Amino acid sequence: MRVSLRKSLVLAATATLATSLVVVATSTANAAAKLDNPYAGAQVYVNPDWSAQAAASGGQAIANQPTAIWLDRIAAIESGSAGSNTMGLRDHLDAAVEQGANLIQVVIYNLPGRDCAALASNGELAPTDLAKYENDYIDPIVEIMGDAAYANLRIVTIVEIDSLPNLVTNVSPRETATPECDAMKANGNYVQGVGYALAQLGALPNVYNYIDIGHHGWLGWDDNFDAAGDVFLQAANANGATPADVHGFAANVANYGILDEAYFDANTAVGGRPVRESTEWVDWNRYVGELEYAQAYRDHLAGIGFDSGLGMIIDTSRNGWGGPDRPTRASTSTDPNTFVNESRLDRRIHLGNWCNQAGAGIGERPKASPATGIDAYAWIKPPGESDGASREIPNDEGKGFDRMCDPTYTGNPRNNNNMSGALNDAPLSGHWFQAQFEELLANAYPPL
Ligand code: BGC
Repeated sequence: MRVSLRKSLVLAATATLATSLVVVATSTANAAAKLDNPYAGAQVYVNPDWSAQAAASGGQAIANQPTAIWLDRIAAIESGSAGSNTMGLRDHLDAAVEQGANLIQVVIYNLPGRDCAALASNGELAPTDLAKYENDYIDPIVEIMGDAAYANLRIVTIVEIDSLPNLVTNVSPRETATPECDAMKANGNYVQGVGYALAQLGALPNVYNYIDIGHHGWLGWDDNFDAAGDVFLQAANANGATPADVHGFAANVANYGILDEAYFDANTAVGGRPVRESTEWVDWNRYVGELEYAQAYRDHLAGIGFDSGLGMIIDTSRNGWGGPDRPTRASTSTDPNTFVNESRLDRRIHLGNWCNQAGAGIGERPKASPATGIDAYAWIKPPGESDGASREIPNDEGKGFDRMCDPTYTGNPRNNNNMSGALNDAPLSGHWFQAQFEELLANAYPPL
């Protein structure tokens, strides 16, 4: 029987007055029980599938780090997600209890018409499959997470990577629009789907919802930043959700944005002007790193109607940018573009590049409360799992071939027509990519 908690509360409440009084009393107690920062003092679950793969692949130094579980299709709820992941949600929750962990990180990632601006992680659900998303994906997850056996686990959910930001930057009349994102904006199913997920998951006393907010190289420009904030708020008020269902937001998930540029920020003056006005890398972005971006977004979101106690998560699994090419001092150039290009730690060809980036390294190790407003640095994208195949690979996972994963691709408006910077010979998204894993280890920063 797939009855979500919210629905069952309604059923209980209509049964007898006495029952409904009890329900009200417990839900108030439960609401009070949510922690300000679930990561504080937590022991975070280590995924045995990923851990074994990492240890067997030369990654003994990091194999005991916690990584998130991705529920990237309906079947993943029962039997594991892409690649070498074999455990279903219940298996992971049981293993977490057994491990003595009290926090597990789960990525909710299966919206209708998923990945509307790219092809590498197109999902299984058609743009109109909202009911299927609700009934066959979210409801069963809620039912499992709501099992009393897991009541002592803090369950952190990262809600729907890339979807809401796509509704802002990749829709008409922008040059970066795709017909697929236009369709998802028009049919409302991203907003409705996220709203449903927030409402149903947020009703569980031990679930902490964090909505994906892309990264500074995507929403860091003022027009994107404010407009996306409004869409997050819209989703948090859709389909039964309220902003109280949102515990926080997650930045840089599966991306490569540096945490903090050591040698400049957007206001650093070079040649008499702030580098924010330089045309190549910063290009009027207000942020040059994920930490300042996440902190500023927190303030902004609290100001437009979200809870003032919001906490942020930053995915630091692959944003280390260490290794021999890492600059060790600020450039002395007085040309802003040259200065930035010689000083920046993030060595991507373009900030819009996102697939299996050459030169990337493991970033900060997972850590609770690392900075003001930040609940955790966390490894949401498991290091070693591909972002997408570098050529067409037939598959039954709904995954397409995105040329941004092809090192010979010369780009599109979303990366200002630059080379993709992707590593060659990559497998499907979510599948193990040994060559990338080795590079991530070699370029880790802080070094391993
Ligand atoms: C893929 C998923 C995978 C996840 C984590 C996504 O890009 O589409 O299948 O589970 O990455 O590696």
